[in-house]
Amino acid sequence: MSDLFTADERARFDAGLSELLSHYPADRKRAAMLPVLRLVQSLKGWIPPEAMKLVAEKLETTPERVQEVATFYVMFHTQKPGKYVIDVCTNLSCSLRGAEGMLAYLERRLGTKAGTNGDKYFLRETECLASCGTAPCLQVNEDHHENLDKAKLDKLLETLT
Ligand code: FES
Repeated sequence: MSDLFTADERARFDAGLSELLSHYPADRKRAAMLPVLRLVQSLKGWIPPEAMKLVAEKLETTPERVQEVATFYVMFHTQKPGKYVIDVCTNLSCSLRGAEGMLAYLERRLGTKAGTNGDKYFLRETECLASCGTAPCLQVNEDHHENLDKAKLDKLLETLT
C-alpha cells in the first residue's frame, strides 16, 4: 500500500476522499464508489490493484466489489493506459458520418490497431459519446472533439506530442 501514492498524491487522496464522503451517510460509504474511483484515476492515471484494496478498505466493502465496478465502466482503466486514450465513437450516427473510415485513418497514422494499448496511444472503439448531432466524434483522454473530418483529425494529431 505504501508504494501506491507519492506523499503529495496521498495528501490529495485523503483530502478528496474526506470531501467526497462528507456527501454520503456514514453507513452508505459504498455509494461513493464511482467518485472515489475517479479520484484515484485522476491521481494515478489508472486504478491499480492496490488502489482497489485501498478503496475497498475506505468504503468498507471488498476488493472484489470494487473490481466489479471498476471493470464495468470503460472510462475506468484497470490496466495502465497509453499517454493518450483515444475513444472513437462507432455507434450509428457517427458510423453514418464516416466513423469507420476515421478509425482506419487513425490506425494508419498512429501505427496501431484499435483495441491495442501502447505506451503513447490507446486507440479504442467506443459506444455513443452523446454527441450524435455533431458526429463523428471522439474523445482524447477527457477532451471531446466533434464534427471531425480529416483536416481536423490531422490538426488534433499534431497536438498529441
Ligand atoms: S453515435 Fe456517436 S456520439 Fe452518438
